[in-house]
Amino acid sequence: MDSWEWNKIAGAVLGTLIFVMVVRIASESLFEVEPPAKPGYVVEGVEETTTATNAAPKEEAMPDWGTVLKSADVSKGQNISHKCEQCHDLTKGGPNKIGPNLWGIVDADRGEGRNGFDFSAAMKAKGGKWTYDELFKFLKSPQGYIQGTKMSFAGLRSADDRTNLIAYLRTLSDSPAPIPAPNPQAAAPASSQGGAPTTPGGPAATPPAGSSTTPAKAPPAATPAGGPPKK
Ligand code: HEC
Repeated sequence: MDSWEWNKIAGAVLGTLIFVMVVRIASESLFEVEPPAKPGYVVEGVEETTTATNAAPKEEAMPDWGTVLKSADVSKGQNISHKCEQCHDLTKGGPNKIGPNLWGIVDADRGEGRNGFDFSAAMKAKGGKWTYDELFKFLKSPQGYIQGTKMSFAGLRSADDRTNLIAYLRTLSDSPAPIPAPNPQAAAPASSQGGAPTTPGGPAATPPAGSSTTPAKAPPAATPAGGPPKK
């Protein structure tokens, strides 16, 4: 092989290197990952979410127990409770199983060992009572809510499932926990009339009468004849 051959080989190697570099740079700029505008795991419009509660997406809004407990489906809740029964006995005076007996759990002290159940340190440390809210949060994700609990249950995603189940658990007591008075704000039906721009002749964004006292920059009430076409 003479030096001419070597030159050709060196040239080829160099050319390949340059080619690879160019492709790299080009593909990096092509496939640059843009962060999504919204995180993919946010579940919007989960059951019962009213427009008023969308403000705090991190923390799930607590149901208005005074309202939901009255409309909850106790028999559906009983069906769901079968998932618990592999670890919990639900009957009065029943034994502890893998988990403690759950008779009278609503409003009971947390980790207080009915029948002397041996709770995890995490459960004992949490303290407090099993209010409706506490059960609602715990049952969504036991391990997420009480890190270190030995209740190895994935949780119930559906808020409806949890309210129905809690309504059922409430009945498992000699004197069921009281149902709080409904919150009048949560109970008031949201006025859903506002959105549809079907009012003939009116500007699309007319606020419902009496809903506010700010007539700020209201468009002229009467559209001139043959006004802008609406779709
Ligand atoms: C795989 C077994 C298992 C399943 C299924 C399970 N649990 Fe538990 N549960 C446990 C264990 C174990 C504990 C004790 C946790 C600790 O000490 O950290 C517990 C504790 C609890 C407590 C606290 C009790 C107290 O006295 O403080 C409640 C409430 C509870 N479970 C409700 C439920 C409900 C409702 C379901 C069904 C949706 C359920 N569990 C399903 C095992 C289970």
